[in-house]
Amino acid sequence: MLAISSTDRVFILTGAGVSAESGIPTFRGENGLWGNYRIEEVASPHAWTRDPRLVWQFYSMRRRAASAARPNPAHCALAKLGQRLGDRLFLCTQNVDNLDEQAGSNNVIHMHGELFKSRCDTCSRPPFEDSKLYEPPAALPLCECGGRIRPHICWFGEVPFELDRIFGALEECTLFMAVGTSGVVEPAASFVAHVIGHARTIYVGADEPANLLAFTERHWGKAGEVLPQLFAQLS
Ligand code: OAD
Repeated sequence: MLAISSTDRVFILTGAGVSAESGIPTFRGENGLWGNYRIEEVASPHAWTRDPRLVWQFYSMRRRAASAARPNPAHCALAKLGQRLGDRLFLCTQNVDNLDEQAGSNNVIHMHGELFKSRCDTCSRPPFEDSKLYEPPAALPLCECGGRIRPHICWFGEVPFELDRIFGALEECTLFMAVGTSGVVEPAASFVAHVIGHARTIYVGADEPANLLAFTERHWGKAGEVLPQLFAQLS
């Protein structure tokens, strides 16, 4: 039974498992994206320098899959929790889809970027909404400055977004919950270690994450089944 008091500040970190029931593949495990693609060929600064067409093909494929996806009961349960807690909920996702927003969540922190945004790789033009597919024979998109337009994604070897706000919220939280994330990608995998001593730590997911021992409470199952139940019982 999950209890959230009127003074609790809740930090929720979500991973690919939360969008799996919407038909978006996870990264690791059976049928995971990284089983079919090599990270260093499609999701790194080196890949962008070497073969930007291949990188855009990969993210165009992911844009297509995410365009067809709709929020599942896990996204809806998180949105409802946000309505109830207001700014006492800090929702931080490693996911780059927009299913939380589609479900009605506001102020979602996308620490690994957003699939439906692009930015220039050269000038300081801010990221902009972009759902286009850049696949052959389409030309690679260029900025007015002559730079190349790249996906607004944090690649391996790059620094995730919003880390100041994230670590501020980790300091303040009294309840930390990770949902559907394998606990292997840093710095997200170590967030739980930052809150031990001042926050309860809860894991929700289908399988044991690599950082399991840091969680004092675990709920096994699909996020779309477990979260609605957990939050329905809130006292
Ligand atoms: P992973 O693919 O590593 O892990 C997904 C986790 O979700 C696994 O532990 C699964 O057991 C669990 N899972 C699968 N289906 C589920 C369901 N229906 N309900 C609950 N849990 C379920 O994905 P992440 O941990 O999110 O980064 O990966 C972290 C980062 O690695 C991603 O953001 C991405 C990737 O490389 C970048 O691209 C920068």
